[in-house]
Amino acid sequence: MPGNSPSLGLRGFSGGGCRHSLLTIVWTVVGFFLAAHLISLYTSKDDQQQQQQAPSHHLQQQLHPPPHPALRELVRVKEEILRLPPPRKRSPRTSKRRSRKPIPMVEEFLDDKSPIRHLFFPDMKTAAFGPTKDMGNDAFHYFPGRFGWTRKETQFKLTAEGFCTTRNLARTIGVGCYSSKDLWTWKNEGIVLGAEETNKTHDLHKSNVLERPKVIYNEKTGKYVMWMHIDDANYTKASVGVAISDHPTGPFEYLYSKRPHGFDSRDMTVFKDDDGVAYLFYSSEVNSVLHIGPLTEDYLDVTPVMKRVMVGQHREAPAIFKHENTYYMITSWCTGWAPNEALAHAAESIMGPWEKLGNPCVGGNKVSRLTTFFAQSTYVFPLPGVPGAFIFMADRWKPSDLRDSRYVWLPLVIGGPADQPLESSFGFPMWSRVSIYWHSKWHLP
Ligand code: DGJ
Repeated sequence: MPGNSPSLGLRGFSGGGCRHSLLTIVWTVVGFFLAAHLISLYTSKDDQQQQQQAPSHHLQQQLHPPPHPALRELVRVKEEILRLPPPRKRSPRTSKRRSRKPIPMVEEFLDDKSPIRHLFFPDMKTAAFGPTKDMGNDAFHYFPGRFGWTRKETQFKLTAEGFCTTRNLARTIGVGCYSSKDLWTWKNEGIVLGAEETNKTHDLHKSNVLERPKVIYNEKTGKYVMWMHIDDANYTKASVGVAISDHPTGPFEYLYSKRPHGFDSRDMTVFKDDDGVAYLFYSSEVNSVLHIGPLTEDYLDVTPVMKRVMVGQHREAPAIFKHENTYYMITSWCTGWAPNEALAHAAESIMGPWEKLGNPCVGGNKVSRLTTFFAQSTYVFPLPGVPGAFIFMADRWKPSDLRDSRYVWLPLVIGGPADQPLESSFGFPMWSRVSIYWHSKWHLP
């Protein structure tokens, strides 16, 4: 007897008389999802168009909740006009470095004889970083592209957190280290892992390649462990190298190199999670796939566990960071030393699946957004005291003189909906947007 049952709602879903209402509910739900999907697709398309025309207004409105007060200035979108010089014949060296689909401004960037070279690589004499000279109003400001470390060394940067990052070490001299407590004043700690001068069979022989060194601290062993890309001059060794030290400032003792999980490994990074587990990320299978695997407890090796992610997507230069239990990654495409478009990715689990969020670059101009501001991701460093804000650190490579490559450091902020329909979320913006804001000059909040 219907009247006897206290659970009217449940009965409604199972009883024949209510099939009609069940259908109505199902169709309402389907309709809602369809409408939301269409709106999201439409908005996303509209967003992309707007972004090309006027990224500033578009993205500033997107940040919900509004950014931390300290970030207001940094999330202001700054556009920049770059004018091409009159067309002329290029040197044969530049032609060799052409990207697959040449963009005139990128050709200028790659041309060492370009009359606008100084815009990309300003004179190092004016390239101060840290209070080394009277900079007047420029003190404490970063000028992306102006700054490189000393020409004699390749280096990693070291902070109070004990992390390190990168610089190509082709024709190896050694890994240099700079330390800082405020990310502005830097102390040159010297070469912490030196090259091998005489033994040609040694991984660190000066004729070889060492790139993208990173150091993480192991609480259990009390050691600082450096992971790096080890290669021969032709990039056929494709291995990782491991070194160890009692101090972040070295000296590091080189332990060995290997092909992790038996696979070729080129651009790489390590990421230490909040629970102390560290992971190796490396471009593999001739840079077509990214491999991720946890390190052993002492961080000196990989475990047998490995996941292949972004299969067939040809991504390199991975830089990993975490915010509110979501993992984020910036990668580049593979175009040698020439710059290309960055992509942001997000994942609920560090081992994947990783989802594409789109190009994170905001401001500048169309070409600079398509070339990661003429640079390539290397590390993303949390901005102390400002949740959701980071420093995006990138290498502006100078192929004709790699040691004169420069850094591009810019504010990176997580907030607002992703602006690209996502593969596995029916087009709903489930993730926050990752935005890297262009500034020709900026300072920490
Ligand atoms: C791009 C990589 O990200 C760099 O580290 C370096 O390996 C170059 N390719 C070599 O062409």
